[in-house]
Amino acid sequence: MAVVICFLFVHFLIGLVSSNGEYQKEKLVSVSATTGMPWPLPQQYSSTPDVYTINRNAFKFKATGQSCDILESAFFRYQTIIFGMREETLKFHPKNSLKAGSLTVLNVNVKNKCDRYPYLGMDESYNLTISATGATLNSNSVWGALRGIETFSQLVLQQDTNMFFVNGTTISDYPRFQHRGLLLDTSRHFLDVTIIKQNLLAMSQSKFNVFHWHIVDDQSFPYTSKNFPDMASKGAYDSRHIYTQDQIAEIIEFARILGIRVIPEFDSPGHSQSWGKSITDLLTKCYSGGKRNGQYGPVDPTLETSYGFLSKFFAEIGRVFPDQYIHLGGDEVNFDCWKSNPNVTAFMKQKGFGTDYAKLEEYYVQRLLDIVGGLKKGYMIWQEVVDNGAKVKPDTVVEVWKRGYLQELYKVTSLGYKALLSSCWYLSDIAYGIDWPNFYNCDPDDFFGTAEQKKLVIGGEVCMWGEYVDNTNVLSRTWPRASVVAERLWSAQSVKDANAAAPRLEEHRCRMIKRGFPAETVNGPGFCPQEYAIPV
Ligand SMILES: *[C@@H]1O[C@H](CO)[C@@H](O)[C@H](O)[C@H]1NC(C)=O
Ligand SMILES: *[C@@H]1O[C@H](CO)[C@@H](O)[C@H](O)[C@H]1NC(C)=O
Ligand SMILES: *[C@@H]1O[C@H](CO)[C@@H](O)[C@H](O)[C@H]1NC(C)=O
Repeated sequence: MAVVICFLFVHFLIGLVSSNGEYQKEKLVSVSATTGMPWPLPQQYSSTPDVYTINRNAFKFKATGQSCDILESAFFRYQTIIFGMREETLKFHPKNSLKAGSLTVLNVNVKNKCDRYPYLGMDESYNLTISATGATLNSNSVWGALRGIETFSQLVLQQDTNMFFVNGTTISDYPRFQHRGLLLDTSRHFLDVTIIKQNLLAMSQSKFNVFHWHIVDDQSFPYTSKNFPDMASKGAYDSRHIYTQDQIAEIIEFARILGIRVIPEFDSPGHSQSWGKSITDLLTKCYSGGKRNGQYGPVDPTLETSYGFLSKFFAEIGRVFPDQYIHLGGDEVNFDCWKSNPNVTAFMKQKGFGTDYAKLEEYYVQRLLDIVGGLKKGYMIWQEVVDNGAKVKPDTVVEVWKRGYLQELYKVTSLGYKALLSSCWYLSDIAYGIDWPNFYNCDPDDFFGTAEQKKLVIGGEVCMWGEYVDNTNVLSRTWPRASVVAERLWSAQSVKDANAAAPRLEEHRCRMIKRGFPAETVNGPGFCPQEYAIPV
């Protein structure tokens, strides 16, 4: 992490300087905007001054094409999200028997049968029309319907207790990038299932579609394995800081209903100290002055037992997590311990690696990739894996996180691999002031490359590393700053003016507050029409 923080600080300063001309803070003081425009901005969007009233007691969603549990649950959820209390709770108040407004139904027409799980490259496009002839949402897949219903929910504004309204609107929308992810780290600090679910809900309201679950790391191992239960009982902080198989299934199901993929990351050979608490001989034993010093390093790549364990472990992970992809980490491997261990030295000699420990790392990673590839799963990896020259499967997704990301995106895509950008979106690095324009101004397509290379950039991820966040502040530190990146990854490339975005972002933040999320301030002094309801 030290490397990252150092780099981002530099990047950050540059960002501030270069965006000074474009972005004027003064203008944003006291933005308390009600634009009625959605976030992220749709690809094609137009509205009219015609206003249609909606009586919340009369309004319904109606499936006019395919339907399934995902759509039904969206109808139920958005009834509450848009209108607050549901009809059942209201019918005891006689004063609420107002006559129906002019819009009573949103017809949702899904063309194709629902998929069970969201996947890379799913069709999220939709068209939404609100006019005198009614309100209609068309999509090919249920995923497009989810995105469209979210947009609809943002267009509806409240007039008084029961009366809402929406302007005439025509939208044709689809995401610019297929992979729009958010990383949470549950190893440095444990996060409750409830917090993870709230975060998933917030994600769906900014049209994110991948939850990158950095579930374990050096510090703790909260994943309860079926085959290796000791990994959690010895590797977690304690018995309360774990995820059971039932809880993991619950999170995957919650995400599925929101159209969000869950990709777990089990990082090795580095970042795996917590694994060694239970798996004997997995980690390299470190030496100093010719003697064992009691410390452990990365996974021991010289022992066949390491690979036997990995085969069994990842076979389980492949079954527990339904997504096609598993993240295998591969970042920040420290060679010092490997260098100190005589057996490793002997192994290096035997393999003809000389003193090039990157070759040893490559040897390990190659074997791990072959194991996971054999499970018919794709994998995601941090950039070091290809930087060190490992041969990965053609469908591999390489996550670029270090400085010099423009060159790295060029390199990864020229090798023919899919690439994701996260270098400029480390939300965990914070500083005083307005930082979101720096996130907004960073674009995965900014590198120099051919059209073929650009196609291989499938999106990006915001990262909220867990050193300084837990249940108390992870949501407020993540939101609405993550939403800024959601717009970069969803909306057209031409949507890049931070000044124009500011009032909509302000409105999006206030909408999140209204919906119950503790979304922090983004634009300096101001207020929300409906302030955060402090839980009691
Ligand atoms: C909605 O209609 C009102 C009233 O005609 C108009 O003032 C407002 O600008 C419209 N909003 C949008 C987003 O078009
Ligand atoms: C949305 O409208 C566009 C333009 O009319 C059309 O090409 C496209 O197929 C429509 N998409 C869906 C999902 O209905
Ligand atoms: C080196 O390998 C030998 C033979 O497999 C084993 O007995 C010994 O424990 C190993 N030493 C270290 C430091 O791993």
